[in-house]
Amino acid sequence: MKYFNLPTQINKFDDFKSFAEAFSIGEKDLVLTHQFLYDPYMKALNLKSDFVMQEQFGAGEPSDEMVDKIHETVKAKPYDRVIAVGGGTVIDIAKLLIFKDVTNTLDMFEGNIKLIKDKELIIVPTTCGTGSEVTNLSIVEVKSKHTKMGLAMDELYANHAVLIPELLKGLPYNFFIFSAIDALIHAIESYVSPKANEFTQMISMRAIDTLMKGFMAIVENGPDHRQELLEDFILASNFAGIAFGNAGVGAVHALSYPLGAAFHVPHGEANYQFFTEVFKVYNKKNPNGKIDPLNAALASILGVAKEEVYNAIEKVLDNLLSKKPLKEYGMKEAEIQGFTTSVIEKQQRLLANNYVPLSEDEILNIYKRLF
Ligand SMILES: [Fe+2]
Repeated sequence: MKYFNLPTQINKFDDFKSFAEAFSIGEKDLVLTHQFLYDPYMKALNLKSDFVMQEQFGAGEPSDEMVDKIHETVKAKPYDRVIAVGGGTVIDIAKLLIFKDVTNTLDMFEGNIKLIKDKELIIVPTTCGTGSEVTNLSIVEVKSKHTKMGLAMDELYANHAVLIPELLKGLPYNFFIFSAIDALIHAIESYVSPKANEFTQMISMRAIDTLMKGFMAIVENGPDHRQELLEDFILASNFAGIAFGNAGVGAVHALSYPLGAAFHVPHGEANYQFFTEVFKVYNKKNPNGKIDPLNAALASILGVAKEEVYNAIEKVLDNLLSKKPLKEYGMKEAEIQGFTTSVIEKQQRLLANNYVPLSEDEILNIYKRLF
């Protein structure tokens, strides 16, 4: 039984310049990024690599159309390395640019072509949430099928993940908090996953400790205090990514996908709506399994009784950013059944990682309570 896997080398630098020098970024490199990151961190370095600005190929979450257009632009040049500098969208797209002679994204997702990796992949995350720099997964919306599809294969592991805390500096408060809440959910869902083991739990727990203490410090000292914690948050997000890359995430992610897809709610924000409610149900169903040491650790961090941890987490997170009833996103009461059915039908890959199984009724009632 495979116990733990991390084929990606983790690197850390104080600034982008040191990374560019150490990795000798040059002519054979393709850098996928955004103009708002290029201008402050890369422009002055006069690097010889080619730069592609993701936003020129479409807005919002990654789609196959975006990836196809980028393939069209870059296919003429034989790059040695693809370097992603950005958040989840940039990273998910970059993961699909590393294969030989591929220009059609749908072919990749439907398994119509043999995928041969012929470029190294280097990922430099600029949010503190996805953990995608250390997972083997890329998720994009396939426009023609009106759905998100995921590609999971070992080739999608980056050769290098590069952590540069200063790149989080310009991240607006909302993006920072929502991405960090996503990281906390990665850590907590992976901790109680049936696939969790001593390695993943040790890493999950470290991420939980750092993120919760960081959130509490931001509540106490105000939003600007996050600038003092950039290194803590980028490391914790990476830890959480390593843990969930091995142990998986479950119902919180599963229940959030229909909301994200129907109303274009960003991933971290959508997850946040379901997080504590799912864990309250888990805790009620079985307080004595892997959730017990988790609750004890959270109680100690938060300074509350074990029974109170999920209410206490809600309070801390609510002081950072408020949750919203689902109807405020545009959801209709009549959609509750449809969302539930879609979770049961399409998200079994994630539901398999639940701490305890959730019935259709239990999922339906979570949507009802949050509506
Ligand atoms: Fe996530």
